[in-house]
Amino acid sequence: MSLIGPDRGCKDSQPPTSRFAVSSIHYPVELCVKFPGRKDKNHLLLIMDLWLLVFGVICVSLVFFYFKFRAVAIAGAKSPPTVPFFGVALGMEVSTYFEWESAQFAKYGKSWSLSLPASPPTLNTIDPVVIKTILQDEFNNFEKGEPFDVVFRDLLGDGIFNADGEKWRKQRKAASHLFTYRVLRETMGPVFSSHLQTLVELLFLKAHPPVPIAAQRLMFGFTLDCFSQIAFGVTLNETEAAIENTSQSEGFGFHFDRAQEIIAWRFFAPYWSILKKLNIGGERQLKGHLKFIRAFCENLVRQRCLTEENGEKRDLLQLFREAKDENNQNYTPEWLTTMLINFLVAGRDTTACLLSWALWRMALPENAGLLHKLRGEIDHAMLQVEVIEDAHVVPFSALEHIPLSYQVC
Ligand code: HEM
Repeated sequence: MSLIGPDRGCKDSQPPTSRFAVSSIHYPVELCVKFPGRKDKNHLLLIMDLWLLVFGVICVSLVFFYFKFRAVAIAGAKSPPTVPFFGVALGMEVSTYFEWESAQFAKYGKSWSLSLPASPPTLNTIDPVVIKTILQDEFNNFEKGEPFDVVFRDLLGDGIFNADGEKWRKQRKAASHLFTYRVLRETMGPVFSSHLQTLVELLFLKAHPPVPIAAQRLMFGFTLDCFSQIAFGVTLNETEAAIENTSQSEGFGFHFDRAQEIIAWRFFAPYWSILKKLNIGGERQLKGHLKFIRAFCENLVRQRCLTEENGEKRDLLQLFREAKDENNQNYTPEWLTTMLINFLVAGRDTTACLLSWALWRMALPENAGLLHKLRGEIDHAMLQVEVIEDAHVVPFSALEHIPLSYQVC
């Protein structure tokens, strides 16, 4: 910096009062351009060289930035219209993403390419053939990969929903015996049935006179109650809070939803890692939410690990506690916590989204015919089973009589 200071050629100028780079570079240029005849030519050249260097560095950075963060489409796949660098981002509706996504399936068929800046090229598919190729035929060639891992690591760690390779294989093996028909029926079925009974009873109370209810919030509350009981054996009473439209207390549900919302935004905000390093904005809030979630779950797990189980509780925590790792040892509380958080995200949020989306689609006037057919199927199934008096809920056994053949959307 001192090389281009006013002492080197621009002698009759005022010396800069600041030693900051910007002012010490700007100052001599301004003076030398004003009085070129009186200035040292070498000095002028040096300044020009410096500007060229700055210009060059900016250009190289821009090129690097462009190639590193530009949106890339999958070659050969159909894609919504893209613009350089931004891909499809400018034409995308983030707040109504699922509507936008299903409209693209209607336009471009069962598989199409989604290109977003700073994200890996993505293939969106609902094609059973492609899904079978990925999940079965060519399974070893497909992994979640680093881009997914960096976004989800803070919440999911090395858990099954985020792991690849050997780490995934081990957890999958441990989890596989939990997903038998018997376990699903005996552990999860009764939980869904009893919470559904509560939900329907609460809905009946709100039906006369009819009161509008936020269906998405209700489904997120209902599924959280179901899955927290399936995972840890605790009910969080989120269904009731949702139906009464009381503001969500700052309990587990609040932190869990906010954490996932902020993490999902990472896909649309490529600068999130900078915010995380600076510990500002949503990333700062995320830290607090994750701390709460981890402490809440770990506390439940530790309490259960400390107390001798009588084996009556048939939740996932109990099933995992009975399982052994590859060295025939019990899983540690930390590992159990990670596993359960993964199951909560994998089971609860998927189911909540599916139910909210299905309700929304069924409520659309153009789907009135489908709703009518669906009601017909359920009525038909109810005739096949012995209906418990006063029960407002379709019993589990009735599900076997529902062909589930209609596409809702
Ligand atoms: C509508 C409901 C659901 C949908 C759409 C859904 C979708 C998916 C998808 C697409 C994957 C693969 C993710 C990947 O490999 O990247 C997955 C994995 C998984 N799901 Fe589901 N899921 C649903 C319900 C559930 C439920 C109810 C549970 C648990 C009770 C569950 C537990 C899991 C687990 C543990 C994995 C990881 C398995 C593995 O990687 O081997 N899911 N789910």
